[in-house]
Amino acid sequence: MTLLLFLILAFSLFNLGIVLWVIYEHFFNTDIPAAIGHTIKLRTLHCLFLLVIIWAKICEKLRICSEMTFIRFVLLSVPVKMDPKLVVKDLCIGSVPVRLYQPKATSASLRKGMIFIHGGGMLIGSLDTYNSLCCFLARETNSVVLSIGYRLAPEHRHPSALNDCMAASVHFLRNLETYGVDPLCVTICGDSAGATIVASVCQILVTKPDLPKIRAQILIYPLIQMVNFHLPSYEYYKNTLFLTKRVCLTCVFHCFDIDFFWKTAVLNGAHLPPEMRDEYEERMDVHNIPERFRKKDYKPKSPGPFNESAYLETKQLFWAMNSPLFADKDIIAQLPETLLISCEFDVLRDDTMLYKKILEEQGVPAHWHHIEDGFHGVLSTFDKKVFAFPCALKILNIIVDFIKNL
Ligand SMILES: *[C@@H]1O[C@H](CO)[C@@H](O)[C@H](O)[C@H]1NC(C)=O
Repeated sequence: MTLLLFLILAFSLFNLGIVLWVIYEHFFNTDIPAAIGHTIKLRTLHCLFLLVIIWAKICEKLRICSEMTFIRFVLLSVPVKMDPKLVVKDLCIGSVPVRLYQPKATSASLRKGMIFIHGGGMLIGSLDTYNSLCCFLARETNSVVLSIGYRLAPEHRHPSALNDCMAASVHFLRNLETYGVDPLCVTICGDSAGATIVASVCQILVTKPDLPKIRAQILIYPLIQMVNFHLPSYEYYKNTLFLTKRVCLTCVFHCFDIDFFWKTAVLNGAHLPPEMRDEYEERMDVHNIPERFRKKDYKPKSPGPFNESAYLETKQLFWAMNSPLFADKDIIAQLPETLLISCEFDVLRDDTMLYKKILEEQGVPAHWHHIEDGFHGVLSTFDKKVFAFPCALKILNIIVDFIKNL
Protein backbone atom coordinates (compact mmCIF):
# COMPACT_ATOMS: atom_id res chain seq x y z
CA MET A 1 0.00 0.00 0.00
CA THR A 2 2.71 2.47 0.98
CA LEU A 3 4.70 1.43 -2.07
CA LEU A 4 1.71 2.17 -4.29
CA LEU A 5 1.20 5.55 -2.65
CA PHE A 6 4.87 6.28 -3.07
CA LEU A 7 4.73 5.36 -6.76
CA ILE A 8 1.68 7.54 -7.35
CA LEU A 9 3.35 10.42 -5.56
CA ALA A 10 6.60 10.00 -7.50
CA PHE A 11 4.70 9.81 -10.78
CA SER A 12 2.70 12.95 -9.96
CA LEU A 13 5.83 14.86 -9.02
CA PHE A 14 7.49 13.72 -12.24
CA ASN A 15 4.56 14.98 -14.32
CA LEU A 16 4.44 18.21 -12.36
CA GLY A 17 8.13 18.68 -13.15
CA ILE A 18 7.48 18.24 -16.86
CA VAL A 19 4.57 20.68 -16.81
CA LEU A 20 6.63 23.25 -14.89
CA TRP A 21 9.47 22.91 -17.39
CA VAL A 22 7.08 23.43 -20.33
CA ILE A 23 5.53 26.47 -18.65
CA TYR A 24 8.95 27.91 -17.89
CA GLU A 25 10.28 27.38 -21.43
CA HIS A 26 7.11 28.65 -23.04
CA PHE A 27 6.51 31.76 -20.95
CA PHE A 28 10.04 32.77 -20.01
CA ASN A 29 12.34 31.48 -22.73
CA THR A 30 10.31 31.85 -25.92
CA ASP A 31 9.19 34.86 -27.95
CA ILE A 32 5.69 34.46 -29.34
CA PRO A 33 5.31 37.32 -31.85
CA ALA A 34 1.88 38.94 -31.62
CA ALA A 35 2.01 39.74 -35.36
CA ILE A 36 1.51 36.06 -36.20
CA GLY A 37 -1.98 36.18 -34.65
CA HIS A 38 -3.88 32.99 -33.72
CA THR A 39 -2.31 33.28 -30.27
CA ILE A 40 -4.09 30.38 -28.57
CA LYS A 41 -3.41 28.01 -31.45
CA LEU A 42 0.22 29.07 -31.59
CA ARG A 43 0.76 28.77 -27.85
CA THR A 44 -0.91 25.34 -27.72
CA LEU A 45 1.18 24.12 -30.63
CA HIS A 46 4.34 25.40 -29.01
CA CYS A 47 3.55 23.73 -25.67
CA LEU A 48 2.85 20.43 -27.46
CA PHE A 49 6.17 20.85 -29.27
CA LEU A 50 7.96 21.36 -25.94
CA LEU A 51 6.20 18.31 -24.48
CA VAL A 52 7.45 16.15 -27.33
CA ILE A 53 10.97 17.55 -26.91
CA ILE A 54 11.07 16.88 -23.17
CA TRP A 55 9.65 13.36 -23.56
CA ALA A 56 12.20 12.69 -26.30
CA LYS A 57 14.98 13.76 -23.93
CA ILE A 58 13.57 11.59 -21.13
CA CYS A 59 13.34 8.56 -23.44
CA GLU A 60 16.95 9.06 -24.45
CA LYS A 61 18.08 9.42 -20.82
CA LEU A 62 16.18 6.25 -19.87
CA ARG A 63 17.74 4.52 -22.90
CA ILE A 64 14.31 3.62 -24.27
CA CYS A 65 15.11 5.11 -27.66
CA SER A 66 17.03 8.04 -29.11
CA GLU A 67 15.59 11.54 -29.03
CA MET A 68 15.15 11.60 -32.81
CA THR A 69 13.47 8.18 -32.90
CA PHE A 70 10.89 9.43 -30.43
CA ILE A 71 10.22 12.67 -32.31
CA ARG A 72 9.91 10.80 -35.63
CA PHE A 73 7.53 8.33 -34.02
CA VAL A 74 5.25 11.13 -32.73
CA LEU A 75 5.22 12.83 -36.14
CA LEU A 76 4.07 9.60 -37.77
CA SER A 77 1.02 9.43 -35.52
CA VAL A 78 -0.80 11.65 -38.05
CA PRO A 79 -2.63 9.26 -40.42
CA VAL A 80 -1.51 9.16 -44.06
CA LYS A 81 -4.45 9.91 -46.36
CA MET A 82 -4.47 9.05 -50.01
CA ASP A 83 -5.99 11.26 -52.67
CA PRO A 84 -8.64 9.70 -54.94
CA LYS A 85 -7.53 11.94 -57.82
CA LEU A 86 -3.97 10.58 -57.76
CA VAL A 87 -2.12 7.35 -58.37
CA VAL A 88 0.50 7.09 -55.64
CA LYS A 89 3.32 4.56 -55.82
CA ASP A 90 6.11 3.75 -53.38
CA LEU A 91 9.24 2.91 -55.33
CA CYS A 92 12.94 2.53 -54.76
CA ILE A 93 15.59 4.21 -56.84
CA GLY A 94 18.67 2.18 -56.04
CA SER A 95 18.44 2.09 -52.27
CA VAL A 96 16.55 5.40 -51.99
CA PRO A 97 12.83 5.16 -51.18
CA VAL A 98 10.71 7.58 -53.22
CA ARG A 99 6.99 8.20 -53.61
CA LEU A 100 5.59 9.02 -57.02
CA TYR A 101 2.36 11.02 -57.35
CA GLN A 102 0.59 11.00 -60.72
CA PRO A 103 -2.78 12.54 -61.57
CA LYS A 104 -5.31 9.79 -62.42
CA ALA A 105 -7.01 11.64 -65.26
CA THR A 106 -5.47 10.79 -68.63
CA SER A 107 -3.58 13.56 -70.32
CA ALA A 108 -3.02 14.00 -74.07
CA SER A 109 0.18 15.94 -73.50
CA LEU A 110 3.17 15.48 -71.25
CA ARG A 111 2.81 16.76 -67.71
CA LYS A 112 4.94 19.06 -65.64
CA GLY A 113 7.25 17.30 -63.20
CA MET A 114 8.40 18.18 -59.71
CA ILE A 115 11.10 16.74 -57.52
CA PHE A 116 10.19 17.36 -53.88
CA ILE A 117 12.72 17.29 -51.01
CA HIS A 118 11.19 17.57 -47.56
CA GLY A 119 12.48 19.58 -44.61
CA GLY A 120 13.06 18.70 -40.96
CA GLY A 121 16.64 19.75 -40.27
CA MET A 122 17.83 16.60 -42.08
CA LEU A 123 16.97 14.87 -38.78
CA ILE A 124 13.22 14.31 -39.06
CA GLY A 125 10.54 14.34 -41.77
CA SER A 126 9.61 11.53 -44.15
CA LEU A 127 7.61 10.56 -47.21
CA ASP A 128 4.60 10.06 -44.91
CA THR A 129 4.80 13.33 -43.00
CA TYR A 130 4.92 15.25 -46.32
CA ASN A 131 2.34 13.07 -48.08
CA SER A 132 -0.58 15.54 -47.97
CA LEU A 133 1.63 18.36 -49.15
CA CYS A 134 2.87 16.38 -52.15
CA CYS A 135 -0.71 15.29 -52.94
CA PHE A 136 -1.77 18.93 -52.89
CA LEU A 137 1.05 20.00 -55.22
CA ALA A 138 0.49 17.12 -57.67
CA ARG A 139 -3.29 17.69 -57.75
CA GLU A 140 -3.35 21.47 -57.92
CA THR A 141 -0.57 21.82 -60.50
CA ASN A 142 -1.56 18.69 -62.43
CA SER A 143 2.05 17.52 -62.17
CA VAL A 144 3.93 14.31 -61.57
CA VAL A 145 5.64 14.72 -58.19
CA LEU A 146 8.58 12.63 -57.00
CA SER A 147 9.10 12.90 -53.23
CA ILE A 148 12.46 11.63 -51.95
CA GLY A 149 12.81 9.71 -48.66
CA TYR A 150 16.48 10.46 -48.17
CA ARG A 151 18.56 9.13 -45.25
CA LEU A 152 18.54 11.23 -42.09
CA ALA A 153 21.17 12.34 -39.61
CA PRO A 154 22.49 11.65 -37.01
CA GLU A 155 22.40 7.97 -38.10
CA HIS A 156 23.59 8.97 -41.56
CA ARG A 157 25.72 12.06 -41.46
CA HIS A 158 25.62 14.55 -44.27
CA PRO A 159 26.17 14.34 -47.26
CA SER A 160 24.18 11.06 -47.26
CA ALA A 161 21.00 13.09 -47.70
CA LEU A 162 22.45 15.04 -50.60
CA ASN A 163 23.80 11.88 -52.25
CA ASP A 164 20.38 10.19 -52.02
CA CYS A 165 18.62 13.23 -53.45
CA MET A 166 21.15 13.52 -56.28
CA ALA A 167 20.81 9.83 -57.16
CA ALA A 168 17.00 9.99 -57.19
CA SER A 169 16.92 13.28 -59.13
CA VAL A 170 19.34 12.06 -61.80
CA HIS A 171 17.36 8.84 -62.22
CA PHE A 172 14.08 10.79 -62.54
CA LEU A 173 15.59 13.21 -65.09
CA ARG A 174 16.96 10.31 -67.17
CA ASN A 175 13.59 8.57 -67.28
CA LEU A 176 11.10 11.41 -67.71
CA GLU A 177 9.29 9.77 -70.62
CA THR A 178 8.46 6.72 -68.44
CA TYR A 179 6.63 9.08 -66.09
CA GLY A 180 4.98 11.09 -68.88
CA VAL A 181 6.86 14.25 -67.90
CA ASP A 182 7.81 17.11 -70.21
CA PRO A 183 11.62 17.43 -70.06
CA LEU A 184 11.30 21.21 -70.49
CA CYS A 185 9.18 21.56 -67.38
CA VAL A 186 10.77 19.91 -64.36
CA THR A 187 10.95 21.93 -61.15
CA ILE A 188 12.60 21.06 -57.88
CA CYS A 189 11.13 22.20 -54.61
CA GLY A 190 11.87 21.90 -50.90
CA ASP A 191 11.34 23.55 -47.54
CA SER A 192 13.87 24.40 -44.83
CA ALA A 193 16.75 21.87 -44.85
CA GLY A 194 15.07 20.27 -47.88
CA ALA A 195 15.48 23.60 -49.66
CA THR A 196 19.19 23.57 -48.74
CA ILE A 197 19.44 20.25 -50.57
CA VAL A 198 17.40 21.64 -53.49
CA ALA A 199 19.84 24.53 -53.84
CA SER A 200 22.82 22.13 -53.76
CA VAL A 201 21.24 19.67 -56.20
CA CYS A 202 20.57 22.52 -58.65
CA GLN A 203 24.16 23.71 -58.35
CA ILE A 204 25.45 20.20 -59.06
CA LEU A 205 23.01 19.62 -61.94
CA VAL A 206 24.24 22.67 -63.88
CA THR A 207 27.54 20.79 -64.22
CA LYS A 208 25.76 17.85 -65.92
CA PRO A 209 24.82 19.06 -69.41
CA ASP A 210 23.69 15.58 -70.56
CA LEU A 211 20.57 15.77 -68.35
CA PRO A 212 17.40 17.78 -69.05
CA LYS A 213 17.75 21.27 -67.56
CA ILE A 214 15.77 22.08 -64.43
CA ARG A 215 13.10 24.66 -65.35
CA ALA A 216 12.92 26.28 -61.90
CA GLN A 217 13.92 25.79 -58.28
CA ILE A 218 11.55 26.58 -55.42
CA LEU A 219 13.13 27.36 -52.06
CA ILE A 220 10.80 27.67 -49.08
CA TYR A 221 12.49 29.29 -46.08
CA PRO A 222 15.84 27.69 -46.99
CA LEU A 223 18.98 27.47 -44.92
CA ILE A 224 21.55 28.75 -47.40
CA GLN A 225 24.64 29.02 -45.23
CA MET A 226 25.88 27.29 -42.08
CA VAL A 227 28.63 29.72 -41.21
CA ASN A 228 27.23 32.99 -39.91
CA PHE A 229 24.75 32.71 -37.06
CA HIS A 230 24.71 36.45 -36.36
CA LEU A 231 22.69 37.82 -39.27
CA PRO A 232 19.95 40.23 -38.17
CA SER A 233 17.27 37.52 -38.28
CA TYR A 234 19.40 35.26 -36.06
CA GLU A 235 19.69 38.12 -33.58
CA TYR A 236 16.03 39.21 -33.61
CA TYR A 237 14.43 35.78 -33.62
CA LYS A 238 16.95 33.69 -31.67
CA ASN A 239 14.29 32.75 -29.12
CA THR A 240 11.29 32.77 -31.41
CA LEU A 241 9.04 29.72 -31.44
CA PHE A 242 10.17 26.43 -32.87
CA LEU A 243 13.39 26.99 -34.77
CA THR A 244 15.37 28.94 -32.19
CA LYS A 245 19.03 29.66 -32.81
CA ARG A 246 19.87 26.84 -30.39
CA VAL A 247 17.71 24.31 -32.22
CA CYS A 248 19.18 25.45 -35.54
CA LEU A 249 22.76 25.00 -34.32
CA THR A 250 21.89 21.61 -32.85
CA CYS A 251 20.57 20.46 -36.25
CA VAL A 252 23.68 21.66 -38.07
CA PHE A 253 26.06 20.03 -35.57
CA HIS A 254 24.09 16.76 -35.62
CA CYS A 255 23.99 16.63 -39.41
CA PHE A 256 27.77 16.80 -39.69
CA ASP A 257 28.53 14.99 -36.46
CA ILE A 258 30.49 18.00 -35.16
CA ASP A 259 31.16 17.98 -31.42
CA PHE A 260 29.35 20.68 -29.43
CA PHE A 261 32.73 21.55 -27.94
CA TRP A 262 33.27 23.70 -31.08
CA LYS A 263 30.06 25.67 -30.68
CA THR A 264 31.66 28.78 -29.15
CA ALA A 265 34.37 28.89 -31.81
CA VAL A 266 31.73 28.60 -34.56
CA LEU A 267 29.54 31.27 -32.97
CA ASN A 268 32.54 33.59 -32.69
CA GLY A 269 33.46 32.96 -36.32
CA ALA A 270 36.90 31.75 -35.15
CA HIS A 271 36.62 28.86 -37.64
CA LEU A 272 36.72 31.24 -40.60
CA PRO A 273 40.06 30.84 -42.40
CA PRO A 274 41.83 34.14 -43.25
CA GLU A 275 41.83 33.35 -46.99
CA MET A 276 38.02 33.13 -46.96
CA ARG A 277 37.47 36.40 -45.16
CA ASP A 278 36.95 38.57 -48.26
CA GLU A 279 34.50 36.16 -49.81
CA TYR A 280 32.70 35.86 -46.48
CA GLU A 281 32.42 39.63 -46.09
CA GLU A 282 31.07 39.94 -49.62
CA ARG A 283 28.46 37.18 -49.42
CA MET A 284 27.38 38.02 -45.87
CA ASP A 285 27.22 41.77 -46.45
CA VAL A 286 24.21 42.92 -44.43
CA HIS A 287 23.64 45.68 -46.98
CA ASN A 288 22.39 42.89 -49.24
CA ILE A 289 19.46 42.60 -46.85
CA PRO A 290 16.87 45.30 -47.61
CA GLU A 291 17.03 48.15 -45.12
CA ARG A 292 13.53 47.66 -43.74
CA PHE A 293 14.65 44.29 -42.38
CA ARG A 294 17.51 45.77 -40.35
CA LYS A 295 17.01 47.67 -37.14
CA LYS A 296 19.19 50.72 -36.65
CA ASP A 297 21.05 49.22 -33.72
CA TYR A 298 22.09 46.06 -35.58
CA LYS A 299 25.87 45.68 -35.81
CA PRO A 300 27.42 42.86 -37.81
CA LYS A 301 29.78 40.76 -35.69
CA SER A 302 33.29 40.52 -37.08
CA PRO A 303 34.80 37.03 -36.96
CA GLY A 304 37.17 36.40 -34.03
CA PRO A 305 40.87 35.46 -34.35
CA PHE A 306 41.38 32.36 -36.48
CA ASN A 307 41.40 29.04 -34.62
CA GLU A 308 42.80 26.40 -36.94
CA SER A 309 41.60 23.38 -34.95
CA ALA A 310 38.08 24.78 -35.04
CA TYR A 311 38.37 25.21 -38.81
CA LEU A 312 39.63 21.66 -39.33
CA GLU A 313 36.75 20.25 -37.30
CA THR A 314 34.06 22.28 -39.07
CA LYS A 315 35.42 23.00 -42.53
CA GLN A 316 32.62 21.17 -44.33
CA LEU A 317 30.28 23.98 -43.25
CA PHE A 318 32.04 26.25 -45.76
CA TRP A 319 31.72 23.89 -48.70
CA ALA A 320 29.26 25.08 -51.31
CA MET A 321 27.47 21.70 -51.29
CA ASN A 322 26.49 22.44 -47.67
CA SER A 323 26.36 26.24 -47.74
CA PRO A 324 25.09 26.98 -51.27
CA LEU A 325 25.69 30.72 -50.71
CA PHE A 326 29.41 30.04 -51.18
CA ALA A 327 29.14 28.48 -54.65
CA ASP A 328 31.35 29.80 -57.48
CA LYS A 329 29.74 32.67 -59.32
CA ASP A 330 29.92 30.91 -62.68
CA ILE A 331 27.86 28.06 -61.19
CA ILE A 332 25.32 30.47 -59.72
CA ALA A 333 25.04 32.25 -63.07
CA GLN A 334 23.80 29.00 -64.66
CA LEU A 335 21.09 28.32 -62.07
CA PRO A 336 17.45 28.12 -63.19
CA GLU A 337 14.73 30.67 -62.48
CA THR A 338 14.12 30.69 -58.74
CA LEU A 339 11.12 31.16 -56.48
CA LEU A 340 12.12 32.16 -52.96
CA ILE A 341 9.74 32.25 -50.02
CA SER A 342 10.78 33.65 -46.65
CA CYS A 343 8.91 34.06 -43.39
CA GLU A 344 9.39 37.04 -41.15
CA PHE A 345 9.63 35.16 -37.85
CA ASP A 346 12.46 32.88 -38.81
CA VAL A 347 16.16 32.87 -37.92
CA LEU A 348 16.75 31.81 -41.55
CA ARG A 349 14.89 34.81 -42.97
CA ASP A 350 18.04 36.63 -44.07
CA ASP A 351 19.56 33.59 -45.80
CA THR A 352 16.83 33.95 -48.43
CA MET A 353 17.66 37.60 -49.02
CA LEU A 354 21.40 36.99 -49.28
CA TYR A 355 20.85 34.23 -51.82
CA LYS A 356 18.40 36.34 -53.79
CA LYS A 357 20.97 39.10 -54.02
CA ILE A 358 23.70 36.88 -55.42
CA LEU A 359 21.29 35.15 -57.83
CA GLU A 360 20.23 38.53 -59.20
CA GLU A 361 23.81 39.76 -59.46
CA GLN A 362 24.52 36.74 -61.63
CA GLY A 363 21.48 37.36 -63.81
CA VAL A 364 19.25 34.55 -62.52
CA PRO A 365 15.55 35.54 -62.44
CA ALA A 366 14.56 35.42 -58.76
CA HIS A 367 10.99 35.89 -57.54
CA TRP A 368 10.72 36.56 -53.85
CA HIS A 369 7.65 36.39 -51.60
CA HIS A 370 7.93 37.40 -47.98
CA ILE A 371 5.26 36.14 -45.58
CA GLU A 372 4.87 38.87 -42.97
CA ASP A 373 2.93 36.70 -40.52
CA GLY A 374 4.84 33.50 -41.22
CA PHE A 375 7.18 31.51 -39.00
CA HIS A 376 9.65 28.75 -39.75
CA GLY A 377 7.93 25.41 -40.34
CA VAL A 378 4.46 26.90 -40.84
CA LEU A 379 4.01 25.02 -44.12
CA SER A 380 3.80 21.72 -42.23
CA THR A 381 0.67 22.91 -40.43
CA PHE A 382 -1.34 23.13 -43.64
CA ASP A 383 -2.99 19.70 -43.22
CA LYS A 384 -3.18 19.81 -39.42
CA LYS A 385 -6.83 20.93 -39.28
CA VAL A 386 -7.33 23.03 -36.11
CA PHE A 387 -3.61 23.72 -36.00
CA ALA A 388 -3.42 24.98 -39.59
CA PHE A 389 -2.28 28.55 -40.16
CA PRO A 390 -3.71 30.45 -43.15
CA CYS A 391 -0.25 31.48 -44.34
CA ALA A 392 0.64 27.82 -44.97
CA LEU A 393 -2.03 27.73 -47.67
CA LYS A 394 -0.85 31.13 -48.88
CA ILE A 395 2.64 29.68 -49.46
CA LEU A 396 1.22 26.68 -51.32
CA ASN A 397 -0.90 28.91 -53.53
CA ILE A 398 2.14 31.03 -54.41
CA ILE A 399 3.91 27.83 -55.52
CA VAL A 400 0.89 26.60 -57.49
CA ASP A 401 0.56 29.94 -59.30
CA PHE A 402 4.27 30.00 -60.04
CA ILE A 403 4.21 26.50 -61.55
CA LYS A 404 1.07 27.16 -63.59
CA ASN A 405 2.76 30.18 -65.17
CA LEU A 406 5.97 28.41 -66.13
C1 LIG B 1 40.19 26.83 -30.38
O1 LIG B 1 38.87 26.64 -29.90
C2 LIG B 1 38.74 25.67 -28.88
C3 LIG B 1 37.24 25.51 -28.58
O2 LIG B 1 36.61 26.72 -28.33
C4 LIG B 1 39.55 26.08 -27.67
O3 LIG B 1 39.44 25.12 -26.64
C5 LIG B 1 41.00 26.24 -28.08
O4 LIG B 1 41.78 26.71 -27.01
C6 LIG B 1 41.12 27.22 -29.24
N1 LIG B 1 42.48 27.24 -29.74
C7 LIG B 1 43.17 28.38 -29.87
C8 LIG B 1 44.54 28.22 -30.43
O5 LIG B 1 42.70 29.47 -29.58
